[in-house]
Amino acid sequence: MAYNLLKGKKGIIFGALDENSIAWKTAQHCFAEGAEIVLTNAPIALRMGTINKLAEEINAPVIPADVTVAADIENLFTQSMEHFGGKVDFVLHSIGMSINVRKGIPYFDNNYDFTHKGFDISALSLHRVLATAMKLDAINEWGSVVALTYIAAQRVFPDYNDMADNKAVLESIARNFGYFYGTKKKVRINTVSQSPTRTTAGSGVKGFDGFINYAEKMSPLGNANADQCADYVVTLFSDLTKMVTMQNLFHDGGFSYTGVTAEVIAQMEK
Ligand code: NAI
Repeated sequence: MAYNLLKGKKGIIFGALDENSIAWKTAQHCFAEGAEIVLTNAPIALRMGTINKLAEEINAPVIPADVTVAADIENLFTQSMEHFGGKVDFVLHSIGMSINVRKGIPYFDNNYDFTHKGFDISALSLHRVLATAMKLDAINEWGSVVALTYIAAQRVFPDYNDMADNKAVLESIARNFGYFYGTKKKVRINTVSQSPTRTTAGSGVKGFDGFINYAEKMSPLGNANADQCADYVVTLFSDLTKMVTMQNLFHDGGFSYTGVTAEVIAQMEK
């Protein structure tokens, strides 16, 4: 059911790779709520993915941008403002990649070239996006930026590897930039800490099946899925959450505040 929560709003969505992507679902939900959207992803992902299907469905242009390349981000904001005939109201950062994770290199043995690359893509990119937007004055007052994160930023999940460090920095950038963008332009910046979700990036983590099942049993409401995450992000882009900024918001069925559940205890007693 749609409520027209984003009627008249315009936004840029990073990271829709295929129909499992959290960004894909968020783009669909934003469109259903009345928003106009520009889609973007890395050039290589555009070649491999199926983004054109989504672009047609929601009537959105696709502008390639590698988040590690400043000129690409600048071009993305400039072209988006041309397309919309004005500034944007929201931005979704739904991007993550670790070569150490992909190659199965354990945390204590990380290859630092891979670490740097993953950090640049997964964390520093949020700073680059925000700094570029601020320089170009590309986001309207009371605009909203959301980046996706995971609870491994606060607690140890051994196989999440160097992505845990990337997420910790990502959340810190949201907080610090949230201060500067808030005081300067009333732009709000938050991270949403989502349950494990079956996507290309998610499934790349070693032992993902065990991981997602454990989280399901440890969450009073069960794991939140990608569609539910999209709904939550819509509220953060809407005017109903205008005074929320610099927060890390858990969207995880209660996992983050649960010590143990009866189901997990029962499992341990077997
Ligand atoms: P996904 O694999 O569908 O999305 C990741 C996206 O990052 C892809 O579209 C990919 O093309 C993009 N990307 C990678 N390198 C890039 C670059 N250099 N420039 C531009 N884009 C680039 O997976 P998912 O799960 O939808 O991931 C979205 C976000 O959600 C990520 O930040 C992820 O860490 C986060 N998240 C995912 C969870 C999960 O279990 N799937 C749980 C909590 C957070």
